[in-house]
Amino acid sequence: MPVKFRSGECIPLEMHKTRVIQRLNLLPLEDRLKASQEAGNNTFLLKNRDVFLDMLTDSGTNAMSQAQLAAMLDADDSYAGSETFYRLEKTIKEIFGVNFFLPAHQGRACENIICQTFVKPGQTALMNYHFTTTKAHIMRNGGKVVEIVRKEGLQVNSDLPFKGDLDIARLRHEIETLGAENICFLRIEAGTNLIGGQPVSVGNMREAVKIAKDAGILTVFDASLLSDNLYFIKMREKEFGNTSLKDICLELGRLFDITYFSARKLGCARGGGLFMNREDLYNEMIGLVPLYEGFITYGGMSVREMEALSIGLWENLDIHVIEQTPLFVEALVNELLAAKISVVTPSGGLGCHVNAMEFCDHIPQEQYRAGALAIAAYIASGVRGMERGTISEERNADGSEHLAEMELLRLALPKRVFSLSHVKYIADRLTWLHENRHLIGGLRFTLEPKILRFFFGKLEPVSDWPQRLADKFKKDFGDSL
Ligand SMILES: Cc1ncc(COP(=O)(O)O)c(C=O)c1O
Repeated sequence: MPVKFRSGECIPLEMHKTRVIQRLNLLPLEDRLKASQEAGNNTFLLKNRDVFLDMLTDSGTNAMSQAQLAAMLDADDSYAGSETFYRLEKTIKEIFGVNFFLPAHQGRACENIICQTFVKPGQTALMNYHFTTTKAHIMRNGGKVVEIVRKEGLQVNSDLPFKGDLDIARLRHEIETLGAENICFLRIEAGTNLIGGQPVSVGNMREAVKIAKDAGILTVFDASLLSDNLYFIKMREKEFGNTSLKDICLELGRLFDITYFSARKLGCARGGGLFMNREDLYNEMIGLVPLYEGFITYGGMSVREMEALSIGLWENLDIHVIEQTPLFVEALVNELLAAKISVVTPSGGLGCHVNAMEFCDHIPQEQYRAGALAIAAYIASGVRGMERGTISEERNADGSEHLAEMELLRLALPKRVFSLSHVKYIADRLTWLHENRHLIGGLRFTLEPKILRFFFGKLEPVSDWPQRLADKFKKDFGDSL
């Protein structure tokens, strides 16, 4: 909850207290340098014991509430027909106003089921913006992705409150030129991940879905990042200022043909699922659940996580639960803006997104500006963020590099995990890094997997810049970690 201090400063006061803690470890500088080399300069490959603040992602790393932990003890462990499943199914039906639910082990598993069922070779999926695993599944099934996010969504800074909104004129144009029969579905992603956790408005979703439905095109909603998006709908979309979060969820659940989500994000647990009102769609997909996930009453999830998810979904309807990440993101964004560091604005959900295109404008984009910034930030702070730029793209069919539209270092803020002093620490180290950014150099691949290379590809610095950066850190901070 934002509160004003006597100085006039606004502080995102936490509406929870911490009663279970995890010890953190901040390695000395030399060890951080060594760990970055051993990880192939890829923050995904760092061992968590070598990381101080893990801001890689909020996926499966959000803090659970005591009610969630308590519910886990109440799980009904059976392969088929578990009471736990029926509780979760009832929760989803009640919150989203739908009739059918299919469980899956995580978000990308839902994407696998949807894409295997609905993507035919040569077809196009229209969407506000892709997510890495979504695009990979569509392409594996012979499809293509066309992004129709509004142009402001791809600008680092804009006043648009909903930068994840679709360009409605483009949507009409694409349907007309491609032909509805060549479009497998329209997908809208809440809290659009790769463009900085930017929300989509209900007004825009209503309009886009109507156009698609009128043209006979299937509509799919990726609700993985719905919790932050819900907060922004409530705060930024006038029509919903007085609407309950439950009523917004009901409207969204009923709007789309299919909704899927990663419960590693939505509901602060681990798992995922798909829900819908159309029985024909449910019947088309259900066969793939036992094939890839597990029986249809657990879908690869542990019953304990399913119990936690049921509670987590209800807790998402509490504004003090869903506000925490957006308010902390805003606090970090404001600290960095005050230090004249370019970040994605308006501040969104999920995390703070530093504009590596500008931070490292002296590095050729082919040498992975955001990847270089991610590893430099780890060396300078022990904080691990995630590259969301060219490394996260797939190469073009001819093998050439697909340069990303945005080069971002994402510093995720898992829900209820970090404190304000953690936010101030990373802001301070990034400010130092910005002052010394000319010392950061580029990277090149030494091991480049064909699919989703950002996960486990390895890179090396193009010069000895990490050592020179570490030397400067030592000079400025002495023995301080
Ligand atoms: C928007 C979005 N969709 C899908 C996924 C995939 O979910 P999972 O990681 O559970 O497979 C993610 C994960 O980060 C996501 O952010």
